[in-house]
Amino acid sequence: MYTLIDGKAIADQVKAEIAEEVKHMLAEGKKRPHLAVIIVGHDGGSETYVAHKVKSCEQVGFTSTRLAFEDTITEAELLAEIDKLNADPDVDGFIVQLPLPRHISEQKVIEAIDYRKDVDGFHPINVGRMAIGLPCYVSATPSGIMELLKRYHIETSGKRCVVIGRSNIVGKPVASLMMQKAYPGDATVTVCHSRTKDLKDICLQADIIIAALGKPEFLTADMVKEGATVIDVGTTRVPDASKKSGFRLCGDVKFAEVAPKCAYITPVPGGVGPMTIVSLLKNTLLAAKGEIY
Ligand code: GUN
Repeated sequence: MYTLIDGKAIADQVKAEIAEEVKHMLAEGKKRPHLAVIIVGHDGGSETYVAHKVKSCEQVGFTSTRLAFEDTITEAELLAEIDKLNADPDVDGFIVQLPLPRHISEQKVIEAIDYRKDVDGFHPINVGRMAIGLPCYVSATPSGIMELLKRYHIETSGKRCVVIGRSNIVGKPVASLMMQKAYPGDATVTVCHSRTKDLKDICLQADIIIAALGKPEFLTADMVKEGATVIDVGTTRVPDASKKSGFRLCGDVKFAEVAPKCAYITPVPGGVGPMTIVSLLKNTLLAAKGEIY
């Protein structure tokens, strides 16, 4: 029988820990941690994510600022808004919700954020520091995955870990963390992607599979070894008339057939998803405490 990794429960637990710490900070006369979020345009997914981020700040006692701009904002105007937040001493950390409209360069925007306030961990300085094991802001999804492995005491040292997907925000950083000399980490990591040959054979060797390719139900039972741990990062919106929203979230793992072979598995929704916002809160807390820079 497999153990379901309950991301929602762990996320609630970590939020309670953060809220407790904020209380202590305030009791010591320190200021409330402050996260600012920039959102451009009206992407449905982005508006939902940002609403959750703002609400989560409230839950743990952070101040939050939501700065919303129409998608007619120019790149120069957006960069000027970033400069204002860089210079605002009350803002401990901020993020620019992605994706951005096509006329704005995401990379330029990411690099305009002061890396000391980059609680998304997307700035090349944070990515580079993570790769060489220095203190930094680790991006939300990889950090959430590490927290789940840790809280479930899942062994990673010397294990074979296969990451499917090589995106900058999940595949690359999570592979880097899993090979780090640390716990969780110390794994032998293989990164698979759209050009990988013999993907099934590689997956069958894995003790831990992290599926982050964004293809609904890609990972099937015949690709998974008995007793493996499977982390599903997929969150594809699939039309579903029975839902109020009109869609349901679909993971990259064919859960019903894969789960019975697993030691541990994350569900979608309720696995990795709820952990991502918690990781952002943790980074904001670190920023407020000046613990990294
Ligand atoms: N869009 C999807 N995920 C993220 C994230 O973690 N941060 C930001 N800024 N935008 C996103």
